[in-house]
Amino acid sequence: MNDQQNTWVMAASGHEVITNTQLSQDVHKLVVTAPRVAAARLPGQFVIVRLGDGAERIPLTIADSNAENGTIVLVVQAVGKSTSDLVGLSAGDHIHDVVGPLGRPSDLVVEGTVVCVAGGVGAAVMYPIAQGLAALGADVITVLGARTAASVVYADELAALGELILCTDDGTAGRTGFVTDALADLLGKRPAAVVYAAGPVPMMRAVAAVTQPRDVRTIVSLNPIMVDGTGMCGGCRVTVDGKMRFACVDGPEFDAHGVDFDELDDRLGTYREFERQAMTHVCRSAG
Ligand code: NAD
Ligand code: FES
Repeated sequence: MNDQQNTWVMAASGHEVITNTQLSQDVHKLVVTAPRVAAARLPGQFVIVRLGDGAERIPLTIADSNAENGTIVLVVQAVGKSTSDLVGLSAGDHIHDVVGPLGRPSDLVVEGTVVCVAGGVGAAVMYPIAQGLAALGADVITVLGARTAASVVYADELAALGELILCTDDGTAGRTGFVTDALADLLGKRPAAVVYAAGPVPMMRAVAAVTQPRDVRTIVSLNPIMVDGTGMCGGCRVTVDGKMRFACVDGPEFDAHGVDFDELDDRLGTYREFERQAMTHVCRSAG
């Protein structure tokens, strides 16, 4: 950890939740005070939050910020005990610490048409990237997918940045099917210079499979397990082009065509089992 990051840790104790808005059944948008992070962050960067002293560290993309108000926007999907605790916060509650901004900022490629593909809560990861691209004058098309109409998040925000192609698995909003069906159709009609993707691992793997034969540069935002966020613990290890990388310092964005998605899926699978056990324990204790 360098001196600057150390200062952020010291200065970042006690971050007030300004608003907590439910976006879908399990996804909430929190506006949180973090003036130093709000002033310094760039698209693609993230923070690691801890609800209390000794609590689990949760990596979250900075979905947006307001440097004037000193606030950042975090979008949280309740998938385990810690994230459920986080979405349970009310306005006026405090998060113990918010460390960041972490990770390398997005490589914003402004040439030709840029397609941003977002699945589920990955929409909040894609939003700052699309926002950064649009601000630089890129022609941005977003393909946004969700299981059902009720689980779509960030559609209005992404539509404000360019063309939006909405898909749902069950056809309750937009076209029926996965984002990859819409992406393949789109690339058949309009060549793209670059594709960005964020969402579940099977989606990012499927996006890479669509773009690789077409030779379209593709950048994915990976979400491996993270602990310290400083390249020291090895928790976020991923393999890209046969080389070991740490998503927290070398990423989180990587060339999709070089990512070892099997390894990423395996490592996340181990973590999901821990989360399932923690949730079962909490539910039993509560019952
Ligand atoms: P989800 O499972 O509901 O999927 C969202 C959409 O992704 C689907 O509607 C579909 O269009 C597409 N998709 C899913 N599987 C696909 C496949 N096999 N092929 C092609 N397209 C597919 O998504 P969710 O429940 O909102 O997402 C949660 C997942 O996203 C979690 O696993 C979480 O870890 C991950 N996540 C990723 C990031 C990131 O930075 N990449 C950030 C937050 C969360
Ligand atoms: Fe520890 Fe990346 S989170 S090395």
